Amino acid sequence: TNGAAAFVPGDRSLPVLRKAVQQCHGCDLYRHATQAVFGELETHEDATRPKVAMMMIGEQPGDQEDRQGRPFVGPAGKLLDQCLDEARIDRDAVYVTNTVKHFKWEPRGKLRIHKKPGMQEIRACRPWLQAELETVRPRLIVCLGAVAAQSLLGSKFRLTQAHGEIEEVKGLPPIIATLHPSAVLRARTDEDRHRSREILVADLKRAADYLK
Ligand code: URA
Ligand code: SF4
Repeated sequence: TNGAAAFVPGDRSLPVLRKAVQQCHGCDLYRHATQAVFGELETHEDATRPKVAMMMIGEQPGDQEDRQGRPFVGPAGKLLDQCLDEARIDRDAVYVTNTVKHFKWEPRGKLRIHKKPGMQEIRACRPWLQAELETVRPRLIVCLGAVAAQSLLGSKFRLTQAHGEIEEVKGLPPIIATLHPSAVLRARTDEDRHRSREILVADLKRAADYLK
């Protein structure tokens, strides 16, 4: 498999892209996923070229997203919604998507446990993200977690040191990276959970301020 490029249609409107991604065999992940999960705006989903300032990029769909076909609708999405609220960002005004469009998982008993996508899958899926960027044309990208951040900012990017900063990359809108909501959910102590949640909200506030 040679990546998604051959599957991305010339017509870059979102409804066309969203339909086409279901046929993608650009890497092996489609084999074990229910469906591809494309990016979306919660409300004006079918706008051909939505006018939104912010694009938020996660890692890959999780178990719930894979079943429902929509990004960030599971536990991480619930937490993200709360944090967006606290940062006074309207999720309706954010185009939410993922670095990789199919759920990568391994079985553990009856559960499907999230497995981190590899460089090959990230690279294979990049044409879809590129098409979303060209169509949506956000003024700011917010990367949630190291996978999204490193896929755009390079593997040397360190989230712990550089979260919340405006990063400039040639050919892309400005980027702010922050923690993934799943990292907050995974925190082992209440104190850790509290601290990482505060970082996430503070970085989202910076993103909102940047767009003012
Ligand atoms: N985690 C992600 O990175 N993306 C989703 O859509 C859900 C969970
Ligand atoms: Fe295509 Fe991306 Fe799915 Fe791989 S993960 S099959 S490249 S849509």
